[in-house]
Amino acid sequence: MALRSTATAWGPVTRAFHWGMLVLFAGIVPVGYYMTDLPLGPQKLKVYALHKSVGLTLLALAVLRLAWRLGERRPALPPMPAWQARAAGAAHVLLYVLAFAIPLSGWLFNSAAGFPLQWFHLVNLPALTGPDPALKAAARELHESLVAVFLVVVGLHAAAALKHHFVDHDTTLRSMLPGRGGRP
Ligand code: HEM
Ligand code: HEM
Repeated sequence: MALRSTATAWGPVTRAFHWGMLVLFAGIVPVGYYMTDLPLGPQKLKVYALHKSVGLTLLALAVLRLAWRLGERRPALPPMPAWQARAAGAAHVLLYVLAFAIPLSGWLFNSAAGFPLQWFHLVNLPALTGPDPALKAAARELHESLVAVFLVVVGLHAAAALKHHFVDHDTTLRSMLPGRGGRP
């Protein structure tokens, strides 16, 4: 089975990255909002540690996904106005930028707060900076704001995909869904 994307469909590796990361994002975002309201205690620490480990996993996946994507061709788009094609491309670039910036801002916040960082109790990660209360507050703000921007962009991106599928009846969504669907 060909792993790479073709002129007519996204390849299975790109599709696996796309939906795998969506599942992790769908889990980590509500956990992020939920955990900040938990009372101090071992339960809160556990949920924070899980949030950070999944966030670091997403960062590693973003690196691998981008490396893979740089060697990929983009399937030709179905006919659409030029502004829509440009908007889709801009959203994709922005989603890549956010897939790096969000976990990195979390890591920066964690470092400036002076907390240790481990990936699933297996790997110790270094601090990006020493303890710094001003940077801690700024990084926390940044982490939260970037997630808000991400939610808006993903919302528009998903709405556009559904519009292509249900209104335009073209192959945009099928070319990314698991399976063989592509562009004719
Ligand atoms: C793509 C990955 C990530 C997403 C989508 C994400 C999302 C979120 C969200 C939605 C919140 C709640 C925001 C708020 O209301 O304060 C949050 C908080 C937090 N995140 Fe992340 N996060 C990610 C990665 C990380 C990473 C890698 C770390 C650390 C290494 C991290 C550390 C934290 C911490 C410490 C908080 C709590 C802030 C506080 O206690 O005020 N996050 N995150
Ligand atoms: C329910 C949510 C989502 C739906 C329905 C959806 C749908 C799609 C579709 C149909 C495409 C192909 C577009 C084309 O060929 O031009 C695509 C591409 C893409 N999507 Fe999503 N998507 C969703 C969530 C996400 C999320 C959470 C991310 C964030 C990382 C994301 C990032 C991308 C990127 C970067 C591309 C371009 C292909 C690539 O480089 O991997 N999508 N999406």
